Amino acid sequence: MQIKNHFSLKDFNTFGIDVCATEFVVIKSHQDLLDLIKGRDFTKEKFLLLGGGSNILFTKDFEGLVIKIEIDGIELLKEDDDHVWINAGAGELWHELVVYCIDKGWSGLENLSLIPGMVGAAPIQNIGAYGVEVKDLIEEVIGIDLTEKIFKTISSKECAFEYRSSIFKTALKNKFIITDVVFKLSKKPLLHIEYGAINDELKRKNIQDPTIRDISNTVISIRQSKLPDPKTIGNAGSFFKNPVVTHEKLEELKVSYPTIVSYPFGKEFKLAAGWLIEQAGWKGFKEGNVGCHEKQALVLVNFGNASGMEILQLAEKIQQSVFNKFNVELEMEVNVV
Ligand code: FAD
Ligand code: EPU
Repeated sequence: MQIKNHFSLKDFNTFGIDVCATEFVVIKSHQDLLDLIKGRDFTKEKFLLLGGGSNILFTKDFEGLVIKIEIDGIELLKEDDDHVWINAGAGELWHELVVYCIDKGWSGLENLSLIPGMVGAAPIQNIGAYGVEVKDLIEEVIGIDLTEKIFKTISSKECAFEYRSSIFKTALKNKFIITDVVFKLSKKPLLHIEYGAINDELKRKNIQDPTIRDISNTVISIRQSKLPDPKTIGNAGSFFKNPVVTHEKLEELKVSYPTIVSYPFGKEFKLAAGWLIEQAGWKGFKEGNVGCHEKQALVLVNFGNASGMEILQLAEKIQQSVFNKFNVELEMEVNVV
């Protein structure tokens, strides 16, 4: 374990923002982590946990220690006739875990194919796509409690998962380092094909009895058709969350905007932020190095050498303009540092 000084983070965030960390360390094992925390007090010291950097916007140099988690390994813990329980290291690439499970015939993660980043970050914002949220597959989350400096296991229930949120973004923010995630997957295919785009794509391909690999391939082609590849254009996926509004608010909006896109969400309704942003005139917007993706308005992009502040300023302008037009607040999904 080697601590590097004045380390460029440009290749470690999918926006491709060129900032430096005062210190940078890669953690490859549980022992590395124990050794690191032994000599430091992370209840006082400034630090940042980093996986694949696909949900982070750096707006300035990071004056502290960046801890990049690369603990790997996938282990079958137990199984019965219907299920398997597997432990995945926080540093495993998310999509590689998905592919590994599909190869084994274990169902659950296929709708979450091709989401960038690492396993350890998946519980943080309860990653979700195409009708599935990871909360429904997570049995427990294991990591180090930085206050007590001991390993702890947090049950799925204790994770307080919500839409794009969990205890790790709230009460345990900067207090817990995730080292492993335990998933419970099904040996029988549990297909989620209710999401409109999946259904349409399966029909287009004339697949009537899809396998989990068919679902994964379908999700991959939908994603590739509209989301920019960070290797080509810097981005962090959806920049904002889809806002949740009451039935009353939705009805009020429908009077002026009858085609507004919404989905039932418990007793409330989720609005498609991409639709709101597009209607406010931002889709395909480009100014200097920054812009709003031409195929998906919810994705802000770095066309070249943008600074994080330029992206943040664009995000704030979009928030203001959507608020002025619809009286709806957009909350940032991306972690702004
Ligand atoms: P990072 O960006 O490195 O970190 C994210 C947050 O988690 C930070 O606050 C970080 O400090 C914290 N963190 C990271 N690792 C740990 C750890 N081990 N312990 C404690 N805290 C930690 N998200 C979705 O939900 N659905 C999508 O469909 C989706 N599509 C995307 C498409 C694209 C093209 C891109 C670029 C992003 C997309 N995302 C999506 C967002 C992103 O991929 C996910 O949020 C992913 O889980 C982030 O993983 P990461 O390893 O890159 O996390
Ligand atoms: N829409 C527009 N214009 C746009 C974009 C979207 O009108 O430019 C409308 C369309 O009606 C479309 C609807 O919004 O049908 C929904 O769009 P999409 O299916 O692309 O999903 P999303 O709501 O924009 C969410 C997640 C994505 C996830 C997809 C698929 C959030 C914030 N985003 O996007 O997650 O991949 O659903 O399930 O919930 C991420 O979190 O980074 C992310 C990419």
